Amino acid sequence: MTDTIPTLSSYDETALEAAFATLAEEVRTSAAALTTPEAQENFRLHWLGRKQGRLKLISDAWLKSAPPEARKPLGIRFNQLKQQIEQALEAPAAPIAAPKVQALDITLPGVIRTPGIAHPLLSTMHEIVRVFHHLGYSTNLGPQVESDFYNFEALNFPQDHPARDTQDTLQIANQHAKPSRDRLLMRTHTSPVQIRTMIAQAPPIRIVIPGKVHRNDAADATHSPIFHQIEGLCVDTNITFSDLKGTLDHAMKALFGSAVKTRFFPSFFPFTEPSADVQISCIFCGGSGCRKCKHSGWIELLGCGMVDPHVFASVTEERRKIDPADDAYNPEKITGFAFGMGVERIAMMLHGVSDIGHFYSGDMRFLEQFA
Ligand code: DAH
Repeated sequence: MTDTIPTLSSYDETALEAAFATLAEEVRTSAAALTTPEAQENFRLHWLGRKQGRLKLISDAWLKSAPPEARKPLGIRFNQLKQQIEQALEAPAAPIAAPKVQALDITLPGVIRTPGIAHPLLSTMHEIVRVFHHLGYSTNLGPQVESDFYNFEALNFPQDHPARDTQDTLQIANQHAKPSRDRLLMRTHTSPVQIRTMIAQAPPIRIVIPGKVHRNDAADATHSPIFHQIEGLCVDTNITFSDLKGTLDHAMKALFGSAVKTRFFPSFFPFTEPSADVQISCIFCGGSGCRKCKHSGWIELLGCGMVDPHVFASVTEERRKIDPADDAYNPEKITGFAFGMGVERIAMMLHGVSDIGHFYSGDMRFLEQFA
């Protein structure tokens, strides 16, 4: 863009025509480069700036010495030029396209798509489930929105059991008009699917139940209000506590390595009698004692026990609504064991993860490590 004010040789038609044609060309050329907001603003200031704008300076200079009869044709032409400038500002030129690459460079590396992987929680669940599949177990699933009956009542939780407390259980709103057994809640464990399975099918049963569970727990390094469990249930004739011990000892060795030992401590769950907590020898120190096992050499990992006859009684009551003669779960004829474990805890141990929150963060830097 030139900044000098062009001289006007005379005020006759031909001279005006030529002078304005030059200016119009000047506008056209500079308007071709309006591809960015900054270029547009510079263009506007250059031409239309109120004090130093080129249009103002030229019109001042040319009008000052113009004879009276030339003022009108000059004015008309300045207006046309101004319109041209304004139009250029309204419809700026399209961005200049990058030159087209003609040749295909076959020496360049291709675009590599990173394949997706199973989330570490999912792969841990698969790993645990696979151990039981090899023992002849199948998989069952159940709903996350559960009724009080399946989540508590049929599992022999007394009405005032602390686990029913609103502290732990996330209740679904507006359930009070319903009988207590039908009230909906977010399941607090995968155990209700034991009941669903037994109501639907007669023994023998060998089943694992992976799934999401919900509790009104504050999140910290080891707790999350939503987490995952794997439940197990085996019901058949002559199932004993030895079967339970042998099965879980095998499963822990399959998961954590054959050097791992297990031990069973008396515990309490309403739906198993007797109940036990299973500890495994510390996988970090081999049992000699370290920070991870609080120097005890053992880590508590899951709950288990022999299915309580009260549970079989609840199942029978439901099954008799369909077949009044049903006797499939007569505790005189069959027995069973059950167990339940937290997936996050096992995944954290297997992969040395110290904060449960990593699993839910969606942070690629964390997830990529499992690729
Ligand atoms: N449902 C229990 C919990 O969430 C875990 C559990 C313990 C499941 C013992 C079982 C069992 O099947 O036998 O704390």
